[in-house]
Amino acid sequence: MSTSIRFDNRVAIITGAGNGLGRDYALEMARRGAKIVVNDLGGSAEGAGASKSAADLVVEQIRKEGGDAVANYDSVATADGGRAIVQTAVDAYGQVDICICNAGFLRNNRFEDMDQEQLDAILDVHLKGSFYVAQPAYREMKKRNYGRFLFTGSSSAMFGHAWQANYASAKGGLMGLSHIVAIEGSAYGIKSNLIMPNAESRLAGVMGEGYLEIPEFAEKLANADFSASAGRLTPEFNTPMSLYLVSEQCQSTHGIFSANSGRYAKVRICAADGWVAPAGQVAPSLEDIAEHFEQICDGSIYHEPLSIPEEFNVVADTARRQGVI
Ligand code: NAI
Repeated sequence: MSTSIRFDNRVAIITGAGNGLGRDYALEMARRGAKIVVNDLGGSAEGAGASKSAADLVVEQIRKEGGDAVANYDSVATADGGRAIVQTAVDAYGQVDICICNAGFLRNNRFEDMDQEQLDAILDVHLKGSFYVAQPAYREMKKRNYGRFLFTGSSSAMFGHAWQANYASAKGGLMGLSHIVAIEGSAYGIKSNLIMPNAESRLAGVMGEGYLEIPEFAEKLANADFSASAGRLTPEFNTPMSLYLVSEQCQSTHGIFSANSGRYAKVRICAADGWVAPAGQVAPSLEDIAEHFEQICDGSIYHEPLSIPEEFNVVADTARRQGVI
């Protein structure tokens, strides 16, 4: 096997690296030369408890294979924890080049019953947890004018899954976080992307089946075609895409990528061409919107602005094409 993509002299923080996807990322990146901070709180798939053994076992395996890694057991879900995780990298290796924000757990429930605790715990670990680790990591990367971030989104947020209002809110927020890190990081050699993984990890065990009470969703699930997925919903099928995105070779930034059953694809946030209101400074009415709603939704032309200024360029181009300006 050719391993021309290497991480020699790179220091990577991987949160939630004691199990599942993060564990596989850590093992493979260490094989390719990176020094790894294996962070894991060691709790359950629903975020209860803590144990050092999850991170320790991965560090042990990396060292057994001749790699270099240190463990960190802090929770990502507090600002202090985030700082301590980054400090572990600085103390052990003097720098941070790569940060994969991956730690998390699930607390599914129907939207109307989701309680404060279920909302807070999930926002804390996924959304705030990524922020808390990424911010001090970014400061370290900026010092050396190099960095690669990978935030862990989910198709639950981007495409939708019932009974995950808390989780999808957090994962959707990470798309915004990654975009801003990518834009600001462009000044300092820092790139940022979002991965939407798919793996039958231990999180699958706590998904529950309550969401089957939603008829339309249950029907879609019953009719879903999983024939491309057998044996391919494993961490190993996700790792190549994720690790490529944090490699020096990868020049992509501000991207969203899906890894699903061995199909790897860029996911785009696009705006339709739409309808431009007639020239002048009189705003259209609701009835004007209703009249043009089909054109507003028409999918035959799409634009992909990668910043707010670019969206204004798209609007002006469309207005010009539609003869409004
Ligand atoms: P996993 O449960 O196997 O691994 C997650 C790890 O995060 C665990 O080892 C856990 O101890 C650790 N963790 C949890 N809370 C933590 C905290 N506060 N601080 C530090 N570590 C903590 O789960 P899996 O499937 O590997 O998930 C990894 C990431 O991928 C998660 O963010 C998850 O939401 C996301 N994801 C997974 C999908 C899948 O199909 N497995 C689909 C979409 C997203």
